[in-house]
Amino acid sequence: MLLPSSVLITGASSGIGRALALAYAKPSVHLALSGRNEQRLKSIVHACADAGSRVDYEILDVTNKDDVRTWVTDVDKSAPLDLVIANAGISGGTGGGSETENQARMILETNINGTLNTVFPAADRMRTRKNGQIALVSSLASFRGLVGAPAYSASKAAVRTYGEALRGALQDDGIGVSVICPGFVESRMTAGNKYKMPFLMSAERAAGIIQRGVAHNEARIAFPFPTYFLSWFLGSLPPGFTDPLFRILPKKK
Ligand SMILES: NC(=O)c1ccc[n+]([C@@H]2O[C@H](COP(=O)([O-])OP(=O)(O)OC[C@H]3O[C@@H](n4cnc5c(N)ncnc54)[C@H](OP(=O)(O)O)[C@@H]3O)[C@@H](O)[C@H]2O)c1
Repeated sequence: MLLPSSVLITGASSGIGRALALAYAKPSVHLALSGRNEQRLKSIVHACADAGSRVDYEILDVTNKDDVRTWVTDVDKSAPLDLVIANAGISGGTGGGSETENQARMILETNINGTLNTVFPAADRMRTRKNGQIALVSSLASFRGLVGAPAYSASKAAVRTYGEALRGALQDDGIGVSVICPGFVESRMTAGNKYKMPFLMSAERAAGIIQRGVAHNEARIAFPFPTYFLSWFLGSLPPGFTDPLFRILPKKK
């Protein structure tokens, strides 16, 4: 079981990232946290420091490749990273209409390029010492293109597939890779959803599941099981067969 002593998390100012930061906050652990909202990020930084962690934070946008590389590299130089969690992400849906081009591009830019911007500098540093672990936050939405959230489901499919390939590619470098596929989790992202979210769980509970999976370097940390099974099963059927069902599912705003 891997017990990280230096952990970097993007998107730590809210939701799952915030809960993960708190879950890892211990006196022996150095945390590096980032987000865009300074007020929310600082509140979690203080909470983690109260739990005894040494905490560095950075206000940054994960779509800024150079800023993210500088931050990840600087953190790694001061506290060699055992675990990097590329968590920052945005969602958006069609609300029953169609997705705008701007929204689609912003989701893909944030969720895919933001993840790559985090993963590449982390892997570069970890490779030199043949040690470390990278966790990429995908989603159960990655198993099938969702009519109500085309760019979001596509972005998460890209992250999942990329992470699964990366796991094999980085194995000989001594770097573990886990792909995290949560179902519905309480956060700012899901707060506005007006439809029923099956097996909705708290961010704290999700963080506990993720932490255990990451500690065992699990390839895929997908939960909760009923929604995982359904997403996987429906995603494995021919799209033409499942189209009528996916057309009538509730649409995200
Ligand atoms: N909640 C769910 O049901 C669910 C399910 C599956 C997967 N996920 C994934 O879990 C991850 C966390 O989402 P969440 O549910 O915790 O949502 P959230 O509460 O909205 O948190 C998203 C986090 O990402 C950060 N972020 C967004 N865009 C960013 C950018 N361009 N640069 C830097 N940081 C950025 C936000 O920072 P600021 O607020 O400071 O801008 C925030 O800290 C996402 O990748 C999401 O896709 C969530």
